[in-house]
Amino acid sequence: MRYLTWDNAFSTGIRAIDDEHRLLVQMITQLQRAQVTGTIDAEIARVLRALVDYVGQHFGHEEAIMAQIDFAEIESHKVLHQEFAQKLVAILTNLREGKTLKASELLDFLAHWLTGHIIREDGKIGRAFRERQSKLSSVAERP
Ligand SMILES: [Fe+2]
Ligand SMILES: [Fe+2]
Repeated sequence: MRYLTWDNAFSTGIRAIDDEHRLLVQMITQLQRAQVTGTIDAEIARVLRALVDYVGQHFGHEEAIMAQIDFAEIESHKVLHQEFAQKLVAILTNLREGKTLKASELLDFLAHWLTGHIIREDGKIGRAFRERQSKLSSVAERP
């Protein structure tokens, strides 16, 4: 398994969001290092629950930013967040019920979804944020 590392392509240009994404990437790397083969044990399940909590907080924060800048795709973006959160809850439920899950498959899914979402979807928020900022500064500069 290739360890996930930060890539400049993940940068949205919104500092608070990028900091949160960095932490999410670190959490996934931590999980990857903890166990690259076999099934999910108690320790990996604990880090996974922390990751799920943090993902929830991050989505809330990102949605507040989207609302603030009147982001056009806010509703469809929220749906993507909800679908992912539901998948995570289903995974945690499966673990709690004692179902075994291959750690490598789960980590590949997490890394793949998060990086794809950050690049394709969160990047749009960054661009909308900058457009908004430049509009505001041109209004402010007008005599
Ligand atoms: Fe995000
Ligand atoms: Fe997002």
